[in-house]
Amino acid sequence: MRMYDIISKKRDGFKLCGNELEFFVKGYVKGKVPDYQASAFLMAAFIRGLDNEETSILANLMADSGDRLDLSSIKSTIVDKHSTGGVGDKITLIAAPIVASCGVPVAKMSGKSLGHTGGTIDKLDSIPGFNTKIEKGEFINNVKKIGISITGQTGNLAPADKKIYSLRDVTATVNNKSLVASSIMSKKIASGADKILLDVKTGKGAFMKSLNESIELASLMVDIGKRAGKETVAYITDMNSPLGNNIGNSLEVVEAIEILKGRGPKDLENIAFEIAARMIAMAVNRDLVECRQLVKESIIERKALSKFEQLIERQGGNPQITKDYSILPQAQIKHKVVAQSDGYIISIDAEALGKECVKLGAGRIKREDPIDYSAGIVLKKKVGDTVESGEVLMEIHTNHRSSFKDSAEILRNSIKTACRKPPVKPMILAYVDSNNVHRYAEY
Ligand code: URA
Repeated sequence: MRMYDIISKKRDGFKLCGNELEFFVKGYVKGKVPDYQASAFLMAAFIRGLDNEETSILANLMADSGDRLDLSSIKSTIVDKHSTGGVGDKITLIAAPIVASCGVPVAKMSGKSLGHTGGTIDKLDSIPGFNTKIEKGEFINNVKKIGISITGQTGNLAPADKKIYSLRDVTATVNNKSLVASSIMSKKIASGADKILLDVKTGKGAFMKSLNESIELASLMVDIGKRAGKETVAYITDMNSPLGNNIGNSLEVVEAIEILKGRGPKDLENIAFEIAARMIAMAVNRDLVECRQLVKESIIERKALSKFEQLIERQGGNPQITKDYSILPQAQIKHKVVAQSDGYIISIDAEALGKECVKLGAGRIKREDPIDYSAGIVLKKKVGDTVESGEVLMEIHTNHRSSFKDSAEILRNSIKTACRKPPVKPMILAYVDSNNVHRYAEY
């Protein structure tokens, strides 16, 4: 077999068989296929597309390129949850302790932030002492002891995806549904869960900008999961505006704790509670309506909050942060951005806010960039609110003395106002399982 023939076959629009995809994946990981041929192959796949079978084979080959986490010693159904990436998305910090507090074990490997979207591991790393680099034995032991553990992805989780993703990043081949779906699902399959719940973000701040594209991506991932023998479902949720009010690592931890205390913003609460309820329903095969009730009780009785404190303590962090937020990293500069006109807020550009947060220090452009855990933005107004000239729109938290004023201007311009109140749009737009696509809203 020659890589040249595989490239030309895909270039001419033909379907590849498993052996050919295996030749590419294994050859590229071992360094036998050079970057220039891998790039040509990825561009051919990007333009010609991969069908569901090819996409699924690619995902499994990448999953098998490294370690597969064996969670079989945990004698319960493990449901993994994955977000395709958003701004202000702290749902894992909320849903995971809720689910565990309802007696359903959570064994979760999470990622770091990249580009304008945040990552759960950076948020947890902002908690003083919290260890997100625990080894496999301790991870599984934590789940057995307290029902929950969250750790970073091991270096050897789907290494083929890591290498191929780096190449896609510099060859304009990221934004293809099959390549995105196989990349995400390779890591989910290797992470060892029995079932997978996907939160596919849609809108300005997401990979997929339209609802239809997001549903196609979700359907593809649901199909890969099914072929791998793992029940997989997906919610499509809105990412035009940031989720909740706080963006930035320690700020998001505070907001997640507020939700666990029953007093956080409703947009975030609605999605987080629904995802938690669905995870429980999938794990124990219970009715979703009953599981929604379990979630509410866990919040009212503060069981989820105490599970989060247990998780923090178990992984070396200071659980007092839930009582005293000042223990978390604090930015030296807190700058108020004020409105220059009156009206209703009709949009807050999630992508623009995510990008400014990176500049303020809260995120990274390259994998090795350092993070300022205290940096970020606190929104004081949300879509649908009224605003008067001079009122505070948001507060910038940063330690970058030289650049925050430029950010303030960009951030002010990322909020649009009008004289009419915008219609209220639902946050959960669709649900996809292996049988159906349920659309809740069009926009
Ligand atoms: N996240 C991933 O892990 N892979 C992609 O291709 C895109 C988003």
